[in-house]
Amino acid sequence: MECRVGSVLDLPFAAATFDGVWCANVAQYLTEAEFTRAMGELCRVTKPGGLVAVKEFDATLLQMLPLDPAIFARLAAARRAKAAATGLLGAWCGPLLGPFFRRAGLTDLVRKGWLIERWAPPPRPTRQFVAMGLRFQAGLAAAHDVSPADRKALQAAAADPDRLLDDPDFCLREAFVVTRGRVPA
Ligand SMILES: C[S@@+](CC[C@H](N)C(=O)[O-])C[C@H]1O[C@@H](n2cnc3c(N)ncnc32)[C@H](O)[C@@H]1O
Repeated sequence: MECRVGSVLDLPFAAATFDGVWCANVAQYLTEAEFTRAMGELCRVTKPGGLVAVKEFDATLLQMLPLDPAIFARLAAARRAKAAATGLLGAWCGPLLGPFFRRAGLTDLVRKGWLIERWAPPPRPTRQFVAMGLRFQAGLAAAHDVSPADRKALQAAAADPDRLLDDPDFCLREAFVVTRGRVPA
């Protein structure tokens, strides 16, 4: 196996190199114009008849129970409103990528979503992931137009993640969508 480092905006591979390509959790960091270009690159390096698949997060469905189940949805809405000015696709773009696939000329679109649940008691990797995620989300709340109550709740959870993680009704619920299309033969 060979690995190469490069930008998805300018892939370091010749045209029609691969039977299939996979791009996970990168689109959210790109603007619409950049992702359009990235889709062009993914299609270019895929053989005619080959598959292009993109996996992305849907932050509107994130929950860390027993925190208010809608708190991350409200934060995602605030992030989305702010990102509208820049065209950034954002961490909620998982279910929204179909138009990019169609505009790139891909056919036979298939979309499939996954809900991943981690119920109490969470194992150590989940605890570390949630503690880190809470700090990240509290930082986002501080920088976006969310209610003082939501900001305070996220700050409190980030400051003491064990309280949430030790709750017998704790559950991390995350959603992803994979979009797949075929390069015309
Ligand atoms: C959340 S991580 C996902 C990593 C991995 N694909 C995964 O799913 O676990 C986001 C990644 O996007 C990469 N990234 C951001 N912009 C990129 C670009 N223009 N070209 C290639 N990678 C990019 C970052 O370097 C980072 O590694």
